[in-house]
Amino acid sequence: HQTLPPGIETILLDAETIAGAIRRMAGEIARDYADRPLVLVGVLKGAVFVTADLARALAEVPGGPTDVQLDFIAVSSYGNAHRSSGEVRLVQDTTYAIEGKYVVIVEDIIDNGHTLHYLRAMLGNRQPASLRAAVLLDKPYHRAIDVTVDYTGLTCPDEFVVGYGLDYQERYRTLPYLAKLRPEVLPA
Ligand code: PRP
Ligand code: MN
Ligand code: MG
Repeated sequence: HQTLPPGIETILLDAETIAGAIRRMAGEIARDYADRPLVLVGVLKGAVFVTADLARALAEVPGGPTDVQLDFIAVSSYGNAHRSSGEVRLVQDTTYAIEGKYVVIVEDIIDNGHTLHYLRAMLGNRQPASLRAAVLLDKPYHRAIDVTVDYTGLTCPDEFVVGYGLDYQERYRTLPYLAKLRPEVLPA
């Protein structure tokens, strides 16, 4: 029985469960991109850990893609609030142009869908050879806009979750598991 940090109510998905889901996603992506150069575009900050872990899991799949590049984009829609503003702000663009590239966007979570919709529209306009999305956590309960997710890890419980990259006011990202925040931490 482990002591949880202040503000954390319970662990919803442990590190082993997350790792298993990422290995499965890596297997699916490896099959689809075996003979293609691949660019993983991690969406900062939330997807920092899933992007790193997925990239390394991909490298361990026998017969998987051998030409894999990593890039990052930073966007924000929640800021310090616990509800989405519905408006996505580009904080930092990718380092390299994606024109002609086989791109997979890597996200930690999809909730209302605005963030991934924005990224798909913006990156899709840049003439990539292909564009898909891999999302570790699907929270399907409050989708405001229909967005295609090509690779999904786990269904996320309908709670305000933190850990494994996900924050509340920039805190809790470094927890190795996905946890439910104590409701009293959130504004009423
Ligand atoms: C969070 C999360 C996803 C997005 C999903 O990012 O990391 O990127 O919201 O929400 P949506 O489907 O409702 O749009 P956030 O804006 O909090 O920025 P961060 O990744 O820097 O924490
Ligand atoms: Mn994010
Ligand atoms: Mg956030």
